[in-house]
Amino acid sequence: MTTARPALLQLIPLNLPEAPERLATHFDVVERWTAQDREAAMDSRRDDVTVLVTSATTATPAALIDRFPALKAICSFGVGYDSIDVRHAQQKGIQVSNTPDVLNDCVADHAMGLLLATARRLGQAERYARADQWGSRNPFPLGTKVSGKKLGIVGLGRIGMAIARRAAGFDMEIRYHNRNPRKDTELAYEPSLHELANWADFLVIATVGGPDTQHLIDERIIRALGPQGILVNIARGSVIDEDAMVKALEDGGLGGAGLDVYAHEPRIPEALKTMDNVVIVPHIASATQETRRAMIELVLDNVDAYATRGQVLTPIAPLA
Ligand code: 8YV
Repeated sequence: MTTARPALLQLIPLNLPEAPERLATHFDVVERWTAQDREAAMDSRRDDVTVLVTSATTATPAALIDRFPALKAICSFGVGYDSIDVRHAQQKGIQVSNTPDVLNDCVADHAMGLLLATARRLGQAERYARADQWGSRNPFPLGTKVSGKKLGIVGLGRIGMAIARRAAGFDMEIRYHNRNPRKDTELAYEPSLHELANWADFLVIATVGGPDTQHLIDERIIRALGPQGILVNIARGSVIDEDAMVKALEDGGLGGAGLDVYAHEPRIPEALKTMDNVVIVPHIASATQETRRAMIELVLDNVDAYATRGQVLTPIAPLA
């Protein structure tokens, strides 16, 4: 059925009071996330879905994109886009936007938080205090100093740079690994990821996810970081060989890990839940009132920009 107004298919909720009204300004909105029968909801306006609203953690494969012949723009909530077949969309002339920059501060804050929490054993200390162990015969074990240590950053993009600025405030020595050195920074580039892991006390993963970085942090890299080393991941679970990491944490080959993301979310490997040298949180790096609001507003601005000017505001650059 074709109607006068184009349709927008919303795969995920946007938790802002003004969101429904703003989306409905230009489109008939089909909410897949509230539909009893998701397939029927998607088919209901199949021929006139022009815009798709999705997220960095919602599967948006080629088959879903191909289902809507009139699709022109995909507006995603989140900066990562490994869940979306962006290349396929772009080849079909479909614009894809994400929400860059607005979450840099919170994700970088969170990386530092995970590093501090792991090194200083904050989760374990909390469990100890809540269990009234303070004053018992069990003294709380010493942690690891963070200030002045060597920090390796894997993936010096916008979030990696924000982490580096924070780490500088902790008087840390910083080196980074990217496919190519950045021309706009004085930070020391390490062409070998293995060398970086060998050198670093702490390794923070801030690179993109997807097939190009799958298991970039493999057993060799994990063991180069070593028994005193701490691994922090605020990027994607796919970047680390999770089984190799769990094994190294178990046998003492890796000192500790602060993890926001996992290979098979929302599943967290059982072994990690019992380790005191690990801090595990459920993919919350961008999850603050301020940043989530800014992310939703940018999704809505992208939808408006497409509807009024035919161009999204923050397009993902064409993938090679
Ligand atoms: C998600 C994220 O957007 O931005 C990203 O890439 O991973 C997060 O900020 C958030 O979990 C909602 O999907």
